[in-house]
Amino acid sequence: MIELRGVHFAYNERPILRNVSFRVEDSESVVILGPSGSGKSTILRLILGLECPQEGEVIVDHRDICHLDIRTKRQIRKKIGMVFQDGALFDSLNVAENVGYYLLEHTNASLEEIDARVREILGFVGLKPDEIVDVLPEQLSGGMQRRVAIARALLSTDPQIMLYDEPTTGLDPQATSKVLALIQKLQSERSISSIVVTHQIADAVSLSRRFIVIVDGAVAFDGSLRELRDCPDPRVQSFLGPFKESFDEVVRQEFMRY
Ligand SMILES: Nc1ncnc2c1ncn2[C@@H]1O[C@H](COP(=O)(O)OP(=O)(O)OP(=O)(O)O)[C@@H](O)[C@H]1O
Ligand SMILES: [Mg+2]
Repeated sequence: MIELRGVHFAYNERPILRNVSFRVEDSESVVILGPSGSGKSTILRLILGLECPQEGEVIVDHRDICHLDIRTKRQIRKKIGMVFQDGALFDSLNVAENVGYYLLEHTNASLEEIDARVREILGFVGLKPDEIVDVLPEQLSGGMQRRVAIARALLSTDPQIMLYDEPTTGLDPQATSKVLALIQKLQSERSISSIVVTHQIADAVSLSRRFIVIVDGAVAFDGSLRELRDCPDPRVQSFLGPFKESFDEVVRQEFMRY
């Protein structure tokens, strides 16, 4: 459903992505790993059609996202839910307004209907609607903000795929496991596939069987956990270096489960 073909991308002539190709099938989930600044968030921006590559193609749902009229582009974008790196909630709107924003602005749904859908989706992401609908984002913990952002993405689009940019960064272990459980729930209960950018190896392993490592704007690795562990590429080894011990432990535990 999503494919990058030989994508080259530069910001103001500064090359960021170099010959990036990979394909994510319907209902498949992949994790993108890589050092800070390697181009991970840029890849998500390209998939959303917020940027276009100078060379190559970004195919979403069999269409080149950069060569569509605005209406078709909007239709295709509706199939993609995005949770940005910082949650990106509107500071001055309360939780209900944040989550119901799209329905309020872009549909004819009545206020009662919007309220009911907002409450339902907040329940789905594991939050108590009565306690938080009137609250401003700044009054919520990081983990709650992240779940509100996921709820908003779910109500703004009818996603077949969700893109998450570092959904657990800065969260404590409890909040992290709640957000991970929610991503898994969307994968299993709603068959919503995902592309998750993360720095956390343990998160990566709990969310996907397939891992893509981006180093300096290029795909340095694309494969399974076992292949990742055994990958001889020095770029991959040097990225995994600092996590080596926790990585080996995660791999060991993962293989014990089978
Ligand atoms: N709007 C922009 N204009 C110019 N350069 C940008 C812009 N956004 C990102 N860059 C540059 O593109 C490169 C890749 O950025 P990107 O945000 O994709 O990295 P990342 O892998 O997501 O990093 P992190 O793990 O820190 O989030 C960086 O060098 C960054 O400085
Ligand atoms: Mg990023």
